[in-house]
Amino acid sequence: MSLQGKCIVVGLGGGIAAFKAVELVRELMRRGAEVRVVMTEAATHFVGPITFAGLTGRPAVTDLWAQDYAGEVHVELGEWADAIVIAPATMNLIARATSGQANDALLATLACARGDVFFVPSMHHRMWSHQATQSNIRTLIDRGALVLGPITGPLANGEIGEGRMMEPEDIADELESRLVHSDDLSGSRILITAGPTHEDLDPIRFLGNRSSGRMGYAIASQAQRRGADVTIVSGPVHLPTPFGVEVVPARSAREMHAAVMSRFEQFDVVIMAAAVADYRPERLEAQKIKKDESLKLELVRNPDILAEVGAKRAQRPSVLVGFALETEDLERSARHKLVRKAADLIVANEASAGLGGDTNRATLIDAAAATRLPQMTKRALANQILDRVRTLLNNPSQRPRREAEHEAPN
Ligand code: CTP
Repeated sequence: MSLQGKCIVVGLGGGIAAFKAVELVRELMRRGAEVRVVMTEAATHFVGPITFAGLTGRPAVTDLWAQDYAGEVHVELGEWADAIVIAPATMNLIARATSGQANDALLATLACARGDVFFVPSMHHRMWSHQATQSNIRTLIDRGALVLGPITGPLANGEIGEGRMMEPEDIADELESRLVHSDDLSGSRILITAGPTHEDLDPIRFLGNRSSGRMGYAIASQAQRRGADVTIVSGPVHLPTPFGVEVVPARSAREMHAAVMSRFEQFDVVIMAAAVADYRPERLEAQKIKKDESLKLELVRNPDILAEVGAKRAQRPSVLVGFALETEDLERSARHKLVRKAADLIVANEASAGLGGDTNRATLIDAAAATRLPQMTKRALANQILDRVRTLLNNPSQRPRREAEHEAPN
C-alpha cells in the first residue's frame, strides 16, 4: 500500500488509450491511493464514466454544469489532489492545457491544481513529433509539469512509433517515485547497467538479445524513490527515463565497458543487470554485407565488465551485484559466478521466467545463503534486491572477506 493516503485525480483525454486508464485507476487504488476521475467529453466516447464510478465509488466528473456537485468541483478537486495525472494526454488536450484554457471540467481542474501535474501523452507518432506538440510540451515542462513517455511501440493503427502511452504500472511507479519518499538508501550512489547490447556487423545489422531493460530500470526507479543517487548505463531500450535518474547510453558491450570503467569508482553500489553480449563480430564491415550461399561469422570475446570491476580490489564498490540467467543447475552455477566474478550478490533468474516480461522469479545468492523468491513483478523484485543491498551496505561483516580489505594502506 505504497500510495496510502495519497489523493490522485486521473484525468482522461479522448484517445484510444483511454481504456488503459481503467487499469491505471485500479493500480493506483491497489497501492492505497484515493482516486477521483475527471473526463473530457471526448474521453466519454472511448470509455464510460460508469466504469470509473464503479471502480472508485465516486461519480466521474465529466461536466462543469452537472447538477450532482455542490459548489465548484474543479476548485475542490484541484485543492484535494496531491497529483493530477492526465492519461491519455492527447495532442488536443496538451494544446488546450498549454494555452491555459479552462472550458471543461478537466482543464478547469488542472488550472486549480495545487499538487504535481503529470501528462502521459498518447497519440500517433507524427502528432507527437509535430512542432506544435513539441513546443507545447516544452512549455508545460517549463511551467513545472512532469511528462511521462510516450514510449515507442505499436500504435492504434498498427504502425510502430513513438507515441504509445506508458503502461499503467510504470505510470504508478513514476507517481510513487515523485509522491512517496523513503530515505533508507539516501546518501548511496548506485550505478546500474541495463538492457541488451547491440554488436554491429555492418552499417545495417547487429547481433542482439531479447533483454528489455525493464529489470534494471525498475531497480533504478525504486532506488531513486528510496533516496539513492542513481545512474543507469543503458543499452538500447524502449523505456522512458525514470524520474530523477541519469541515463548514460551505451550501444555495444565495449561502449558499456568504457562507460562503467570510467565511472564505477564514484559509486558505493554497482548492479549489473545488463544482458551484455559475450561475443562481438571480429570485423565490423564498412559496407552492407552482400548475400551469398552462406556466411561464416567469426566472433571474439567481449570484456566481462562485472568480472573486471570485481577484480579491482581496493577501488571496487562496497557492494557489487551481478545477474545470472541459467537454464540448468541454477544455484550451483550462480554460486560459482559469485566467486568467479567476485560479486557480493548474484540475482539468479530461471531462463523460463522473466526475459522481456513484467514478472520474474529469482534466487538471491550471497556468500551466506541462497534465498528463493516467488514469482513477482520486476518492481517488487527490485525492492527485494535493494533490501539485500542495504543490508550488505550496513553490515560489511556479511560481505565476503577480500584481500583488498585487509591490505595496510601505503
Ligand atoms: N556481464 C558483464 N559483462 C559481460 C557479460 C556479462 O558485465 N561481458 C555481467 C552481466 O551483466 C550479469 C553477469 O555478468 O550481471 C552474468 O552474466 P552471464 O552472461 O550470465 O555470465 P557468464 O559468466 O557469461 O555466464 P556463462 O559462463 O554461463 O556464459
